[in-house]
Formats: sequence, C-alpha cells, structure tokens
Amino acid sequence: MADHETITVEQRDAVTLITLNRPKALNALNSKVLEELIEAFAAYQADSSQLCAVLTGSGDKAFAAGADIKEMSEKEAADFYLEDFFAPWTHEIVKKTRKPWIAAVNGFALGGGCELAMMADFIIASDKAKFGQPEIKLGVAPGMGGSQRLTRAVGKAKAMEMCLTGRMMDAEEAERSNLVARVVPHDRLLDEALKTAAEIASMPPMAAIANKEMVNAAFETALDQGLVIERRIFQILAASEDKKEGMAAFIEKRDGQWKGR
Ligand code: HXC
Repeated sequence: MADHETITVEQRDAVTLITLNRPKALNALNSKVLEELIEAFAAYQADSSQLCAVLTGSGDKAFAAGADIKEMSEKEAADFYLEDFFAPWTHEIVKKTRKPWIAAVNGFALGGGCELAMMADFIIASDKAKFGQPEIKLGVAPGMGGSQRLTRAVGKAKAMEMCLTGRMMDAEEAERSNLVARVVPHDRLLDEALKTAAEIASMPPMAAIANKEMVNAAFETALDQGLVIERRIFQILAASEDKKEGMAAFIEKRDGQWKGR
C-alpha cells in the first residue's frame, strides 16, 4: 500500500483498515491527515476487492482529539473561507465513499474527531471512548458537521448541552443516546470492528451499497421521498444477479456466491 505520513492503511482480506497515526498529538487532524485520508478512502472505494473499511486511531488514548489547533491557530478567517476549510471531508470522504465503513472509536473523539467518527456509517466504541464538541472553549464552533450530525443522532437537548458547555459524553451515555451502535471492552475494539466489517464484506456488495444509500436517504429527505428512493433501489436490486443467487442459495440451503452485480 502507498506510504503515508499520518495514517496507516492495511488490507485484511476484503476489509481495509485505516489508522490515524499521530499518537503524540492525540491523532489531531491536520491538512496532511485530510489529504491522506481522502487518498485512502478513494483507494478503498476504487478497489473492487475491498468491501468494507474500518477507521480507528493509533495509541491507547485517542481516536482523534480534534482538528489540529496548532495549525488552525495560524489561519485567519479569509484562509478558512477561501479554502472552504472542512468542505473536502464531506465531499470526498462522505459523499464519494459509497461502500460501507465503520469508525472504531478507541478513546477521545473530540471536535473534528467526533465529527469524523459521525461521518462513518456507524460507530463501534471502546468502553473508554469519550465524545465531545468542545470548540466553544476555543472561541469557535463545530465546522465539520458536529452541530448537525450530533443533533440528528442524540437530539437537541444533549447536542445543545454538549456544544454549549463542551462537556464530554462517555461510551455508556453515547450508546444510550444512539450516538454509537455498540460499546465493546477496550481491548476487544479492533477485533470486534474488524469482525463486523468482515461480516458486512461477506454480504452481496451491491446490496451493501444500496442498503447504505437507503438508510442515508432517511437523513436527507422527507419520508415520502425516502420511501420512493427505498422502493426504487429495491426494484433495481431485484434485477441483480446476486438477488437470483441469494434466493437460490437460500432455497438450496447453501452459501451465496456473490458477483457484486
Ligand atoms: C493539536 C493536540 C490536540 C489538537 C491534543 N493535542 N489535542 N494538538 N490539536 N486538537 C496535543 C497536545 O498539544 C499535546 O501535545 C498532546 O496532544 C497530548 O495532549 P495533552 O493535552 O497533553 O493530553 P491530556 O492532558 O491527556 O488531555 C487530553 C485532551 C486535551 C483532553 C484530549 O488534549 C484536549 O482538550 N485537546 C483539545 C481538544 C479540542 O479542543 N478539540 C477540538 C479542536 S477544534 P504537546 O506537544 O503539547 O505535548 C475542532 C474543530 C474546530 O476540532 C472548528 C473550528 C473552525
């Protein structure tokens, strides 16, 4: 795999494991991380042998403690505006990655770190994970979707409290509040996330993309439109080779052999 400075990328069978790798800075997200993550997600999306991805943080302490404060402290408003700072995360990582990916949150997920985790299709958290949007303490506010995705996930009361006070939510509260799909013991996190990713990777690949697209439509459209999107995607899947194979395999009591189309 390509050499990277701030992340590592490994392929484990059909699962791509991407690890944020600036442990001394608690995996803070600087421009280089963004550039390398965009490259890694594009490579994952383009490689037809790869069917699910996991994003995690190196070290024992942090998934990512936020956008890099040292880098941001040198930028002025005009820089943020002219670069449309933070926009590429959404365009390149969220919109262009049609295949599924999981965030395995192994510690602090603060500010941009929490926002990056929330860009994933779902989060599996270590029991040591802590989530927060502490930007207010720096005189700013979330800039990569935190005020929107956190509010949709946990509701207005908790999102507002977290954004206004900067308080962190622990893993147990995050699970109770629907921010994460599941909490697992810290030392089991990567195994559990990779196991879940391998399970997703064993599914018919086109159906995986379609299921992701449908669930995301629930956040982006009104119910009537979402239901139409669901039906249309279902109808397209019904014409796929993997639909014929999946149903035949069920009836013949064997595993399906997927073509991905
Ligand atoms: C750059 C960071 C960093 C960050 C930690 N570090 N977070 N560097 N950007 N976001 C660095 C520290 O400077 C330090 O390096 C090293 O990581 C270890 O951090 P400590 O603070 O010594 O660790 P600890 O005492 O255990 O505290 C952990 C922590 C704290 C609670 C997570 O680091 C913290 O509060 N970090 C900032 C969290 C935050 O505010 N995130 C939101 C950023 S704003 P050195 O070399 O000094 O020892 C954002 C979006 C902003 O994400 C949008 C604005 C437009």
